[in-house]
Amino acid sequence: MVNKDRKIKIKSIGIYLPEKILTNADLEKMVDTSDEWITTRTGIKERRIAADSQTSSDLGVAAAKMALEKANLKAEEVDLILVATNTPDTIFPSTASWIQRKLGIKEIPAFDLQAGCTGALYGLVVAEGLILSGTCRRILLVAVDILSKITNWEDRSTCVLFGDGAGAFILEESQDQSGLISHFWGADGSLGELLILPGGGTLHPANEMTIREKLHYIRMKGNDVFKHAVKRMGEAALEAVKKAGLEKDQVDYLIPHQANLRIIDATGARLGLLKERIVVNVDKYGNMSVATIPVALYELENEGRLKSGDIVVMVAFGAGFTWASAVYRW
Ligand code: ACO
Repeated sequence: MVNKDRKIKIKSIGIYLPEKILTNADLEKMVDTSDEWITTRTGIKERRIAADSQTSSDLGVAAAKMALEKANLKAEEVDLILVATNTPDTIFPSTASWIQRKLGIKEIPAFDLQAGCTGALYGLVVAEGLILSGTCRRILLVAVDILSKITNWEDRSTCVLFGDGAGAFILEESQDQSGLISHFWGADGSLGELLILPGGGTLHPANEMTIREKLHYIRMKGNDVFKHAVKRMGEAALEAVKKAGLEKDQVDYLIPHQANLRIIDATGARLGLLKERIVVNVDKYGNMSVATIPVALYELENEGRLKSGDIVVMVAFGAGFTWASAVYRW
C-alpha cells in the first residue's frame, strides 16, 4: 500500500434528506411510465423531493450543522466553505456564500465548485490540496443538489431518475493511519451536450424562447451517458486502487455514484466485488447527483458496517463529462 505521509481525513459526515417521498406509483400518475420499467431499467423505487420553499443552501446548511455537531465544532472553527453543486440558489452569490450567511459566520472564504455529479469527489481532491499545502486547516465541504427544480416533469426519460439531498464533510489533516490514500480525476468537455442544462447561462440567457423550448430543464441522451458512465467509472475505480498500491481484492467497500443500478453493478464487476461489498441506496433516493456518495458513506458508517482500517473506494461520473475516484482508509 502506498504510504502517504500526510493525508486528509473525514472528521465527520452530516446529511439532509427532504421529507417528501415520491414513489414510482406517484410517477405512474404523472407520466406514461410504470414501476416495472423504472425498477428494471434503473433500480429506483422512490426518491426525496425538496419543498418548494427549500433551496440548495437550506439542505446544505442542515447537513453542515449535523456534521459540525458530530465533530463537536462551532461553525467559526471552520476556515473554508466549499460547496459542490449544480443547482445553486442563485448564479451569484454562490451557494457557499448563502450557506456561510445561514451558518451565521463571516470573513472565511466560501466558493462553489461545479463538476456535475462528480462534485463531491472533485471537492475532496481540492480540499486535500488546500489542507496539505497549509492554506486551510479545516474545511467544510458541502455536496448538495435539488435536481427536482431543474427537471422537466413531463419528460419520462429523465423525471423518473432524480432526487434531492445533501451531504457534508468536515475535513482536516489526519493524525493517524486513516484518510484519503489516493485519487484520480478527469474530464472530457467534448461530450458536454449529452447531459446539459442549456438555458439560463451566457449560451442561452433566459428569455421567452428559452422558456418555450424548455431549455431550463435537464436534457440527457440517457443511452450515451450510460455507456460512458460504465466505462469511465470502471476505469477510474481501478486507477485509484492502482495508485493506492492496492490489489482489487483488498477493497472492502465500493461506493459508486448512485445513478442507475445497472451502472453500479457494472462498476462493481470491474473490481470483482461481491454484492454485499457494493453500497447501494439508489432504490431509496434515486440519483441525488453530488449528494449520492456522502449520503451513502454516512449510511455505511451509521449502519455500523465500517470498521477501522477498511478500504473504501468511491467513484463518480457526471455532466461535463467528469469522473473521479478516491481510495479512503477508514
Ligand atoms: N417509462 C417507460 N418507458 C420509458 C421511460 C420511462 N420512464 N423512459 C424512456 N422510456 C422508453 C423510451 O422511450 C424507449 O422507448 P422506444 O424504444 O419505444 O423508443 C425505451 O424506453 C428505451 O429507452 P432507452 O433510453 O433506450 O432506455 P435505457 O435502457 O437506456 O434506460 C436510462 C434509460 C435509465 C435513462 C439509462 O439510459 C440510464 O440510466 N442512463 C444513464 C443516466 C445517468 O446515469 N445519468 C446521470 C449520470 S450523471 C448524473 O448523475 C447527472
